[in-house]
Amino acid sequence: MRKPLIAGNWKMNGLRADLGEIQAMAKGATVALRRKADLLICPPATVISKATMNTIGTGIAIGAQDCHAKASGAHTGDVSAAMLFDAGATAVIVGHSERRTDHAEKDADVKAKAEAVIGQGMLAIICVGETRAEREAGKALAVVRRQLRGSVPAGGSAADIVVAYEPVWAIGTGLTPTNADIAEMHADIRKTLKGILAKGEAEKCRILYGGSVKPSNAAEILALDDVDGALVGGASLKAADFLAIAGAV
Ligand code: PGA
Repeated sequence: MRKPLIAGNWKMNGLRADLGEIQAMAKGATVALRRKADLLICPPATVISKATMNTIGTGIAIGAQDCHAKASGAHTGDVSAAMLFDAGATAVIVGHSERRTDHAEKDADVKAKAEAVIGQGMLAIICVGETRAEREAGKALAVVRRQLRGSVPAGGSAADIVVAYEPVWAIGTGLTPTNADIAEMHADIRKTLKGILAKGEAEKCRILYGGSVKPSNAAEILALDDVDGALVGGASLKAADFLAIAGAV
């Protein structure tokens, strides 16, 4: 019922010279693979336009990593959802923990950004996840519930919202939660989404796991109940690794 999504987040990595990796992914995204999973790469905003042109008609979609909540105006250095759509993006990651930390983004900011993305007809990938201290204090479920209630637009639908569970302590560290912890969190996220999204949409909404996903652990994580794909950072920079993760679906 839910088609898995394998999304790559390049973060602040990637020049035009690196776009060959996305072309290699497009080449490797066979019809059989495209039937199994949706594939998306979110490179830096500076190369979205070129990456889009390089992937027209292939199995790789191009997305962005953040946007401003407003459509236009006096916001020096910011990029709106409309601008990203104009450049060819079909999805935008919002509320990544690095944005929440580096730019003090709050749940309400994330929700406003998600609404801007949806309003532009793009997919909003809304990130949530607890810190190590929160998990150790037994607060992981409560923290993520609070983030979801604050960040996910009420009445949204599975067609324009994806949730990515990314424990902050698992991002870029090589550490991952146990499979039981991932499954418990994803089931709880779906339950919470039932109280936020329009009726029947939580069951259809894709919930991605992110945080140190790599070719060697992708199969077991992607096989868990309520895990509908992955948000991949470091391992999405190389076509071979990204395609191996997608192939593990
Ligand atoms: P990682 O990053 O795969 O390098 O841990 C994931 C993310 O931050 O989206």
